[in-house]
Amino acid sequence: MTKRLAFISTWMLAAVVALPVVAQPESMFMDNSDGADWPSYGRTYAEDHYTPLEQINKANVADLGLAWSLDLDVGNTNTSPLAVDGVLYLAAGYSIVHAIDGKTGELLWKYDPKAIAVAGKTLRAGWGIRGLAYWEGKVFVGTQDGRLIALDAKNGELIWSQQTTDIAGVFISGPPRVFNDKVIIGNGGADFVAMRGYVTAYNTDTGAKEWRFYIVPGKPGEKDGEVSDSAMEWAEDTWSGEWWKYGGGGAAWNAMTYDPEFNRVYIGTGNSGPYNEDIRNPDGGDNLFIASVLALDADTGEYAWHYQNTPNDIWDYNSAQDMTLATINIDGKPRKVMFHAPKNGFFYVIDRENGKLISAEKLGTVNWAESIDLETGRPVETPFARYGTEPVLIWPSFQGTHFWPPQSYSPKTGLVYVPIIDMPVPFARLDDPKDYDPILFTPDFVGLKSGDGDVPADAGVSYLKAWDPLTQKAKWQVKTPGISNSGTMATGGGLVFQGLADGYLHAYDADSGADLWSYYAKVAVTGPPVSYSADGVQYVTVATGPLNGAPGAFGSISAQFGWDSRIHPRRLLTFKLGAKGEVPATPEPIVSKALFGEEMNLDMKLAAAGVKQWARCQLCHGPGVVAGGNAPDLRASAIPLTFAGFEQVVRQGVLEQKGMPKFAELTDQELEQIRHYIRAKARGLQF
Ligand code: HEC
Repeated sequence: MTKRLAFISTWMLAAVVALPVVAQPESMFMDNSDGADWPSYGRTYAEDHYTPLEQINKANVADLGLAWSLDLDVGNTNTSPLAVDGVLYLAAGYSIVHAIDGKTGELLWKYDPKAIAVAGKTLRAGWGIRGLAYWEGKVFVGTQDGRLIALDAKNGELIWSQQTTDIAGVFISGPPRVFNDKVIIGNGGADFVAMRGYVTAYNTDTGAKEWRFYIVPGKPGEKDGEVSDSAMEWAEDTWSGEWWKYGGGGAAWNAMTYDPEFNRVYIGTGNSGPYNEDIRNPDGGDNLFIASVLALDADTGEYAWHYQNTPNDIWDYNSAQDMTLATINIDGKPRKVMFHAPKNGFFYVIDRENGKLISAEKLGTVNWAESIDLETGRPVETPFARYGTEPVLIWPSFQGTHFWPPQSYSPKTGLVYVPIIDMPVPFARLDDPKDYDPILFTPDFVGLKSGDGDVPADAGVSYLKAWDPLTQKAKWQVKTPGISNSGTMATGGGLVFQGLADGYLHAYDADSGADLWSYYAKVAVTGPPVSYSADGVQYVTVATGPLNGAPGAFGSISAQFGWDSRIHPRRLLTFKLGAKGEVPATPEPIVSKALFGEEMNLDMKLAAAGVKQWARCQLCHGPGVVAGGNAPDLRASAIPLTFAGFEQVVRQGVLEQKGMPKFAELTDQELEQIRHYIRAKARGLQF
């Protein structure tokens, strides 16, 4: 038997053996389901973003064409739909849920949770939603303001809604996951506010809370009355100083994986908050359970095991990247493993029975650590990794080697297809931790030095890598544009789909990386592709739109593609073999042109004070006022030319319903500092 066949049979055996264990999970979520549906974010519990469908395959993919497109009236399209019985469920923008006929693209219903109206300061975190969940006729979605909502899949009517957060600035951008009549959700915000990460499981029928697990300890001696209390007792010993005043971090903002073989749920936990250890953790300690994989009992939430990727993280190396489950032969024995490529640049193979590390190697350029010690499971840090008050160029950047766009795994090729970024960033601590006085709800919270700067178009490069988890080497790779390309989908037809920042959707040969098909979507392809079948026809669908989310916060490295948040549309595009549809007429990419604005007298003292104030605006309007796609480029806007117009937008919030938050607390002077800073950047000045 060839190695490839051995792979398939082990995988199928694992899936079959898995069925009778512990709970009775719904068969549509199991790895041996037929692929007609795509019922959860990663399709099955394994989170492998793999469809067994093979109608579209290497031999005929050249004949793939547009079946239909649907224009979306939303702001953010870093999202992918679910498909159940031929109906697509898509959450986009600020969690606006759409049900769409998968064959025709007809909108069946739409539900708007009106998140902007209630988000308040939490709106400042930007983002928008990346996905949703389905379970027994219900659709589940989280919102920017922290609600978890259950809708009737038939008609979009509200079944229940739970407020899962109670701190301004804590938001939900990730998809919930479901298992055993429970729906679990985490949240984000550790880069903006003092928060402790946690996950909560709710009853899918009633919305009643079943359990909550805090990821980092609170104030010593104070119990939460949650299942995490006993683990927090010993986790506390890994912290120093008065971390609880600053939150600690560990926000579970993205990846969670349910494992039916062990009836556990794995949480990919977030980075430290704030990043500066002088503030958060002055006498050292690993800071459990930040930047870790945390395994919990799915029924009770009880601690099972953890593996910490980045002890005492100071680089924003969260572990919130997908954890893909597989059973593979290692040294002739089938092992139940997970593949995990967190932000810190290593690709980990972990034994999911006990959390033991099997192997870890660098997936891209990494200089904060030499290697991962396989005995202890700990990184061997380089001498300069714990940068001081002078900037040190560290690889990877806080964007990570692998950010949230999901990897996929094909049991046929045995390869993991990872979208990766190769980019460094200079890190520097504050000169004195006592100077820490952050502007809340901004990246200033992290406690590092920041300045006035664009991210140049050549600051980093990206690749799609086909990673062999057995050899821990790339079998093939292709260079991709910019740093914000979509997640990947592997298929039974031997293909890997990925959407790119330049507006192209590609299908590559899963074995060789040969580029077999591409399609110009007329705007960036931002969502991870998914596939489903209806009436025997296989479809591939992707969300498109201007670059958004964190990449939209970058400057020229994202802006170079010319997608403007105001001008370019958001769409869902769906493909099938033999179709000949066309994407509706769309404005060409444009690079925004700064207004010189000679009519305004520039005050350079005000402008210089605006450098720090700009932290409030940077996430959406870009570093150095170069917008990457989340929001308009303010160098080109006439509004900052007058105080009155600027004040109406920024302090009175006249554009709030369009996603421009209201900054009611800003004084006239602060507004003037920001306004003059914007105008100075429009004239090309540096600080
Ligand atoms: C969460 C994202 C976000 C943040 C943070 C944000 N903005 Fe905006 N802003 C937007 C969006 C989105 C729009 C476009 C709204 C629309 O389509 O009308 C916008 C529009 C504007 C406009 C109008 C531009 C024009 O030509 O119409 C101004 C001025 C502006 N923002 C200033 C600011 C300032 C100043 C800050 C910081 C104090 C800031 N914004 C922070 C998202 C944001």
